[in-house]
Amino acid sequence: MSKVALVTGSSRGVGKAIALKLAEQGYDIVVNYARSKTAALETAEEIQALGRKALVVKANVGDIEKIKSMFEEIDQTFGRLDVFINNAASGVQRPIMELEEKHWDWTMDINSKALLFCAQEAARLMEKTGGGSIVSISSLGAIRYLKNYTAVGVSKAALEALTRYLSVELAEKNIVVNAVSGGAIDTEALKHFPNRDEILEDAKENTPAGRIVEIEDMVHTVMFLISEGAYMIRGQTIIVDGGRSLLV
Ligand SMILES: NC(=O)c1ccc[n+]([C@@H]2O[C@H](COP(=O)([O-])OP(=O)(O)OC[C@H]3O[C@@H](n4cnc5c(N)ncnc54)[C@H](OP(=O)(O)O)[C@@H]3O)[C@@H](O)[C@H]2O)c1
Repeated sequence: MSKVALVTGSSRGVGKAIALKLAEQGYDIVVNYARSKTAALETAEEIQALGRKALVVKANVGDIEKIKSMFEEIDQTFGRLDVFINNAASGVQRPIMELEEKHWDWTMDINSKALLFCAQEAARLMEKTGGGSIVSISSLGAIRYLKNYTAVGVSKAALEALTRYLSVELAEKNIVVNAVSGGAIDTEALKHFPNRDEILEDAKENTPAGRIVEIEDMVHTVMFLISEGAYMIRGQTIIVDGGRSLLV
């Protein structure tokens, strides 16, 4: 029976690329999205063209009930889960003095709370087949100041802390938990940044590796973290930024 991977937010961007790479490597894929149905169906078609199965599930991962029904559907369809990539993200980009409670809650629910409650459900499925891997996608705003990024940065810091806690408590179920944090990547997400041009210019000019991070750089690191070679890496956030965060 084929292995199964869930990638939240795999209708586009980084999540889609991870889903396709996993499909290439033989996984059947659960494609999750919140709003972009057409894009999610396109991802599923590309997965099927690679000869793998794709289950498309619309679920806002900020809503625990939606998380529960998504995992029920995964259990009914595949009866197993081997890899969970916690990629979906959203968030309100505003200066601190303009942040409201609803902005905070929205951002924390989707970016942080979702990892805890998806990981609980994922662990229940993974332990049926003897273990698995969980990788979350984070960003540099978790550890350094980025303009307008307070809510998202703090939500990603919580995600990285939760990664450490999960890695300890899920180890007994043979589940390996880590995160990958990326520098700026030119996806649709960046269009929602009021200072998109400034961010891309900075990444171009100030990345020691000489170019901005590409989606594939994130994909390679995720694939390494779910491989046997990463078995002893636990609770870590691997920074994929070409060295940008080493400079001021
Ligand atoms: N782009 C960057 O510069 C950058 C840098 C570092 C880290 N990252 C991280 O990389 C990950 C992917 O980002 P991206 O740039 O690929 O973003 P993106 O192109 O905006 O894609 C985001 C994906 O998440 C889904 N999504 C959003 N809210 C959701 C929700 N509540 N429930 C389920 N799915 C939801 C979207 O689906 P719908 O369209 O259906 O809502 C979409 O598939 C994120 O965790 C992000 O923080 C991005």
